[in-house]
Amino acid sequence: MSRLIADLKVIRNKKLNNDFFLLELSGGDHKLPEMKPGQFVQAKVEGSPETFLRRPLSIHDVDYGANTFMLLVQLAGKGTRQLSTLKNGDLLNLVFPLGNSFSMPAQGEKILLVGGGCGIAPLLFLANTLKKNGHVPDILLGFRNKDRIIEYEHYLKIGKVFVTTDDGSVGEKGFVTNHSMLINNSYRRIFCCGPESMMRAVAAWAKENDSICEVSLENLMACGIGACLCCVVDTVKGHQCSCIDGPVFNIKDLKW
Ligand SMILES: Cc1cc2nc3c(=O)[nH]c(=O)nc-3n(C[C@H](O)[C@H](O)[C@H](O)COP(=O)(O)OP(=O)(O)OC[C@H]3O[C@@H](n4cnc5c(N)ncnc54)[C@H](O)[C@@H]3O)c2cc1C
Ligand code: FES
Repeated sequence: MSRLIADLKVIRNKKLNNDFFLLELSGGDHKLPEMKPGQFVQAKVEGSPETFLRRPLSIHDVDYGANTFMLLVQLAGKGTRQLSTLKNGDLLNLVFPLGNSFSMPAQGEKILLVGGGCGIAPLLFLANTLKKNGHVPDILLGFRNKDRIIEYEHYLKIGKVFVTTDDGSVGEKGFVTNHSMLINNSYRRIFCCGPESMMRAVAAWAKENDSICEVSLENLMACGIGACLCCVVDTVKGHQCSCIDGPVFNIKDLKW
């Protein structure tokens, strides 16, 4: 699959709440390359020496018809704050698409998507792709509280949505793995992205329930192309780079 370095035009920068914003980017006259759910971009942050390294961001959704795609960004530090100031018409330099992707299930498999915090970023593209392929996944989303809930309505168009919040302000109180929907359900395949503690808990549940489970790791990255080794993951197959062998890993390959 070809990788590009290109300037993409910002056509929308929408603040979703105090923590998240959505960037919509256009390929302009250049047709966007094929992108797969789970892949990411390395975004160049202009404007300060501290943000010299590109920032990895998941491909949030793609509209090939409109030749556009989206990034969902959580404000974390200087880089993401700088990206939040982009305006319509500004150019954002990206290296993309990078990394591997979630595997596509066979027809009829019962599927669960689990996301928490900014870990929901790669799941919308995955959910829309699954829907196009005839799957109706269940979706379990965890947020800190009601004010942090984003994009709920998008997921409702795809499958049954279950929510937990840390304070119980919406959905069930607690972590995603405490949700009562897990008591009477079993899944052939689980796709998960979120904080590592959440992914480990979901992986443990998947193991107990004999589900295939893939997680998208958000290890710190620098080059994004397998050259610096700063994103190495210790797996049963030896050390692997999260940026090229991942970010998506089957939990049976992780030493969790
Ligand atoms: C493959 C991949 C996909 C990602 N996709 C998304 C996405 O779609 N949306 C999104 O908002 N974020 C995503 N992230 C996380 C994002 O890259 C970081 O939040 C971002 O690089 C922080 O940059 P900053 O300059 O704003 O913060 P910095 O000033 O660099 O750091 C601020 C704080 O964020 C923490 N941080 C930095 N990088 C990461 C990281 N990789 N994971 C967790 N914490 C980090 C730092 O430890 C520090 O505490 C992804 C990370 C990876 C590896
Ligand atoms: S980020 Fe450099 S090797 Fe993965």
